[in-house]
Amino acid sequence: MTAADILNNGGVVAIPTETVYGLAASAFSDDAVGKVFVAKGRPQDNPLIVHISNIDMLNEVAMDIPPSACECAKRFWPGPFTIVLKKTDKVCDSVSRGLDTVAVRMPSHPVAKAVIECAKLPLAAPSANISGCPSPTSANHVINDLDGKIDAVIVGDESEVGVESTVVSLAGDKPVLLRPGAVTLEQLREVLPDIVVDSAVLSEAKGDKVASPGMKYKHYSPKTTVYLVEGDGKAFADYVNEKQNSAAICFSEDEGIKIPFIVYGSRLDESTLAHNIFGILRDIDKENYKEVYVHAPSKTGVGLAVYNRLIRAAAFKVIEL
Ligand code: TXA
Ligand code: MG
Repeated sequence: MTAADILNNGGVVAIPTETVYGLAASAFSDDAVGKVFVAKGRPQDNPLIVHISNIDMLNEVAMDIPPSACECAKRFWPGPFTIVLKKTDKVCDSVSRGLDTVAVRMPSHPVAKAVIECAKLPLAAPSANISGCPSPTSANHVINDLDGKIDAVIVGDESEVGVESTVVSLAGDKPVLLRPGAVTLEQLREVLPDIVVDSAVLSEAKGDKVASPGMKYKHYSPKTTVYLVEGDGKAFADYVNEKQNSAAICFSEDEGIKIPFIVYGSRLDESTLAHNIFGILRDIDKENYKEVYVHAPSKTGVGLAVYNRLIRAAAFKVIEL
């Protein structure tokens, strides 16, 4: 059986994408999408992103599409970019979880594209991890989390971007950045000058009325307790060197760290930080550290996406030196 056969028969298949691995199911089947929620242990109120491979599919799943969405699609698709739009009735309720909107992305990864094209279906696909754990950037991460719970995994390369897509809502009066990603706020402002940043991007979202339900949950967390630490290289080293049974995740520029550490890239190269961070958060759990201290990236460019994931991995425990 091919992946397309499995998907057309209501099964679930993990697929590589350029952001992270996704767990795909037909966006038209409540039953198939239900299996995704069960396999991941995903909270019931958290809607899924629908993946498409062409603009005809966009018109199948979304309606009342504003000109700004077409401009964004031209500029950022295919790629790590998701637009929230008014949904059509074809999108099953299990995807939108009671909302009247749908999040849509056209991935650039050749395998993701080929699977959508061969299945001839828009595919609902959240990240292919157990809910709450760091997102999967390799097939091994998927197998570690979901072996025995899903129908198949397509083994591809390591995810290039390493953090999930940028999510922008164009379903309301003003464009809203719901989740930062590799398409940066600076790039978005060129197309959407009046875009606002949802408060949940850098702080804790609480209650039922949050714009993007996924931002409400503790997320991306290894078992080791994570702290996000803001400060210069010397202050960071002095601070972490006092810690017992702990490790640091730091920049290549950091010096003088005497506890075990993993470098996640240069502080000036945010794309590399994004590429590495989820794999490193998983590696940390292979040792038995009590705590891990992560040197906080800048909040500009792709750094904003890395910061957004880390502050959640740290359950909002930020230390300012
Ligand atoms: O890069 C990605 O986007 C990956 C790959 C597999 O494509 N997918 C992914 O899906 O990250 P997931 O389910 O882990 O994250 C989807 C995010 C959640 O924060 C969810 O709340 C939000 O998108 N979302 C989905 N539908 C929405 C909607 N209608 N309105 C607002 N937020 C929505
Ligand atoms: Mg996810």
